Amino acid sequence: MRVSVIGGGMIVIDQILPSLDYLRRQGVVSDIEVCARRPATLEALAAARPDMPFRPRLEPYAQVLAELPRRQLAVIALPDQTHFDAVMRALQADQHVLCVKPLVRTLEESHLIEAEAAKRGLMVAVEYHKRFDDRALMARQRFRKGQFGEFRLGTAILFEPWLYRDSNFQNWFTKEETDAFTYIGCHYVDLVAFMTGLKPVSVSVVGIADKFPNGHEGWLWTDARVVWSNGACLNVQNALGYPDHGPGPNTQGLTMWCDRSFLRHSDQYRGLEYCTLDGLYKQPSPDYMQMVETINGGVRPVGYGFRSIEAIAQTVIDLEAGRTTLALVDAQGLIATPGNSRYNEAVVEAGRRSIAQGGVTVACADLE
Ligand SMILES: NC(=O)c1ccc[n+]([C@@H]2O[C@H](COP(=O)([O-])OP(=O)(O)OC[C@H]3O[C@@H](n4cnc5c(N)ncnc54)[C@H](O)[C@@H]3O)[C@@H](O)[C@H]2O)c1
Repeated sequence: MRVSVIGGGMIVIDQILPSLDYLRRQGVVSDIEVCARRPATLEALAAARPDMPFRPRLEPYAQVLAELPRRQLAVIALPDQTHFDAVMRALQADQHVLCVKPLVRTLEESHLIEAEAAKRGLMVAVEYHKRFDDRALMARQRFRKGQFGEFRLGTAILFEPWLYRDSNFQNWFTKEETDAFTYIGCHYVDLVAFMTGLKPVSVSVVGIADKFPNGHEGWLWTDARVVWSNGACLNVQNALGYPDHGPGPNTQGLTMWCDRSFLRHSDQYRGLEYCTLDGLYKQPSPDYMQMVETINGGVRPVGYGFRSIEAIAQTVIDLEAGRTTLALVDAQGLIATPGNSRYNEAVVEAGRRSIAQGGVTVACADLE
């Protein structure tokens, strides 16, 4: 299976290229190409990952996708507001799609994508990698067995480092296009739905605007209150605001209080403390994505960032070989598809309306 990656920014450097490169070494995928608009993006990617070769493409992504043989894999790793166009172009070129989260920002776009994919028998997978964190899979099993009572109140937090403000984010993370809740809060909304089977029914998002170094204004701090189908309430705080000198690569976690039970995931402090000779104290995460030594020599990616990409790539291969079906993938619900994770678009669409109106409560569209 050939892979075209559209976009060559941070997520491609950190997670997507290392994962695909290992899958190529394992014989799961063959050629990897990466498309960006500027040579500097691809040069920076090659410099960051010198031992992970890819074919650089600077043509428009519609052309790159059309030139890929049919029914291969297109990986969409572009800014949030461009996902819809790129995913549709990939489908129209008859490609299976892996799209980074959030898929799109409206329900209408999610329905259009689903219809286009269904017409062509193609999979669209939304890369909600936290689903492949074993602790999420363990909690899902236990909620399903009834080992937790009814979810009532929860808090989730995910703050990315302050230094994201100096990155390419300042060119696209503007108030008109996205916000901290849409960008990163969607992970925990998705996880709570994934683990409990509940659906969000309303949301209120208070945003605090801040300026990027280039003067663009973004909703860089958000506080969301998501109400669920059983009346439970989840508070989600997000920001590009974690101190760069903080011990973790970011801070994140989830606590869910249920009837006579609770669940707490510390997703930042994962049990490791390093105090190194450069004078730094750090709490690294071995769980998302690390490269570690293997018995074959060299290194391999480990963590849920890799497992998520591996699962999606393998599923595309299985679909093409007739070993599984789109209906089975949708129904199993491990891989997020437009159909089985549409509540995310419902929350994002309502959340965007809420933040623009100072945090009023907005009902999520009824998905039944
Ligand atoms: N934890 C996560 O799941 C996670 C983390 C980071 C990013 N993301 C998502 O990944 C996406 C990209 O984020 P990022 O951190 O890589 O951002 P980034 O700004 O570092 O990279 C975006 C890339 O897209 C490229 N690009 C923009 N328009 C293009 C076009 N028309 N053709 C080709 N390339 C184009 C830019 O040049 C840049 O290389 C976002 O949707 C973000 O929400 C998810």
